[in-house]
Amino acid sequence: MNKTQRVPMKALVLSGGKGSRLRPITHTSAKQLIPIANKPILFYGLEAIARAGIREVGIIVGDTAAEIRAAVGDGSAFGFKATYIPQEAPLGLAHAVKISKEFMGESPFLMFLGDNLLKGELSPLVEDFLQTKPNSQILVAQVPNPSSFGVVELKDGKVSRLVEKPKEPKSDLALVGVYLFDKNIFTAIDHIQPSARGELEITDAIQWLVDQKFTVVCKRTQGWWKDTGKLADLLEANRLIHETLEPSIHKDAHVDAGSRLEGRVTLEAGAIIESSIIRGPAVIGARSRIIHSYVGPYSSIYYDTLIENSEIEHSIVLEHAKIRDIKRIQDSLIGQRVELLRSGAKPQAYRIMVGDSSRIEIP
Ligand code: G1P
Repeated sequence: MNKTQRVPMKALVLSGGKGSRLRPITHTSAKQLIPIANKPILFYGLEAIARAGIREVGIIVGDTAAEIRAAVGDGSAFGFKATYIPQEAPLGLAHAVKISKEFMGESPFLMFLGDNLLKGELSPLVEDFLQTKPNSQILVAQVPNPSSFGVVELKDGKVSRLVEKPKEPKSDLALVGVYLFDKNIFTAIDHIQPSARGELEITDAIQWLVDQKFTVVCKRTQGWWKDTGKLADLLEANRLIHETLEPSIHKDAHVDAGSRLEGRVTLEAGAIIESSIIRGPAVIGARSRIIHSYVGPYSSIYYDTLIENSEIEHSIVLEHAKIRDIKRIQDSLIGQRVELLRSGAKPQAYRIMVGDSSRIEIP
């Protein structure tokens, strides 16, 4: 529990969506629960919300509701009260806001997209909003690929136009998944129509506020920001988070005399390292066994995995995966219970059973 004072504001955390760019992982699990350095992406946001003093959090859930509920529970582990708001289909961010109207009542709120990761605290943004009381406060970051995001155009430092994923962006300022609103956003949403992708866009609702002369202020991110919707972004987020971690070796982890830990290595409870080199930054999860292997920088190995006679780096391995006799894995995301093995069986061939939309690169 953290001790921050409670602020008069609620939060809305979006944890639905299909995660189509992270298939096949997201065929079976929620993208927001993919671990980065062995902690679900969503938890970084929830912890920051709690640190900002918000004590009532609405969580929008879709097909993966059961998993999200199992992970977050009633919110008490984070220090807030969680209320789940089911969204029957991913009909857009503004639709998610619309269905949260009853939960919000008259309260201002912070909306946070559950697959976004950002360095830095939310509390300065919350404090600014509560002090200056605009109708909405948005956060932007300069990006090299603005057409993948909602784009904000400024005129004399003021928000003049917002366009969702423009083909020809007029600015390089992307909307970051952190928004603050007062109740006027609900009126705005009642005035917009679904976009070409069939969604009610929050970007359009904010544009309505601008057009109707409501106050919309724009802040810039102070540190890095990552929308973790794609593999390359996930791996980059993993790298960035690893840079911020303090190493720690759990007292119930075991490293044999034939092994070496180099740099910033974290071993969780019951991790076993035998005849191996772990070169940090790296995290090895609870009860995972690394045997006769090399685990290199920026590896996040989740719990109950086995890595034997193999080399891996700059990768994320999910729970219960087994990797045996494979040299060498890099830049990869390996799903739950996946087995990657070398076999002597004849005829020599690749024998593969992989899920839909998987991707395998072989040298
Ligand atoms: C959404 C918003 C977009 C914003 C982005 C940030 O995009 O529609 O304006 O820039 O989140 O992550 P989506 O992830 O739904 O494509």
